[in-house]
Amino acid sequence: MKIIIINGPNLNLLGKRENDIYGDQSFSELFSKLQFKYKEVELSQFQSNIEGELIDKIQEVGYEYDGIILNAAAYTHTSVGIGDAVKAIETPVVEVHISNVYAREEFRHVSFISPNARGIIIGFGLQSYELAIESFLSQ
Ligand code: DQA
Repeated sequence: MKIIIINGPNLNLLGKRENDIYGDQSFSELFSKLQFKYKEVELSQFQSNIEGELIDKIQEVGYEYDGIILNAAAYTHTSVGIGDAVKAIETPVVEVHISNVYAREEFRHVSFISPNARGIIIGFGLQSYELAIESFLSQ
C-alpha cells in the first residue's frame, strides 16, 4: 500500500513552532517512527509552504497512490485550489489536523478540504497522522 503524507505551510517548523499547540517533536522524528511501525506501508512525505506546489503534488500522486494524508495547514481554511484538487483526483484523502481547529479561532472552523475528504482526523496531536494511516489499513 502506497500512502503519502502531504503537509502544508509552516509544518516544517514542527517541534519549534508554538509547542503548546503542536508539541515538541519534529516531523522527521515522527516520520521515522511511522516508517518503523508501518513497515508494510510504502510511506512517503512531502511538505511545501507554497500552495501551487501542494496542488502539483496532489495531482501527481492522486491517480496512483492508495491514500493521501493531507494536512494543508493554513491553506485548509483558504484554498479553493487545493479543495478542487482533492475533488479532482481518484486517490482517497484523509484530512488531518494536529490541533482541534474547532476549539480555536473561528476562521479555522472552515475547511475547503473536508467536503471531498474520505474522513477527517482532528485534534489528536501528532497521533492524528498515525490514526490516518490506521484508517487506510482498516479499509
Ligand atoms: C493545523 C491547523 C491550522 O489551522 C493551522 O493553520 C496549521 C496547522 C493543525 O494541524 O492543527 O498550520 O492544520
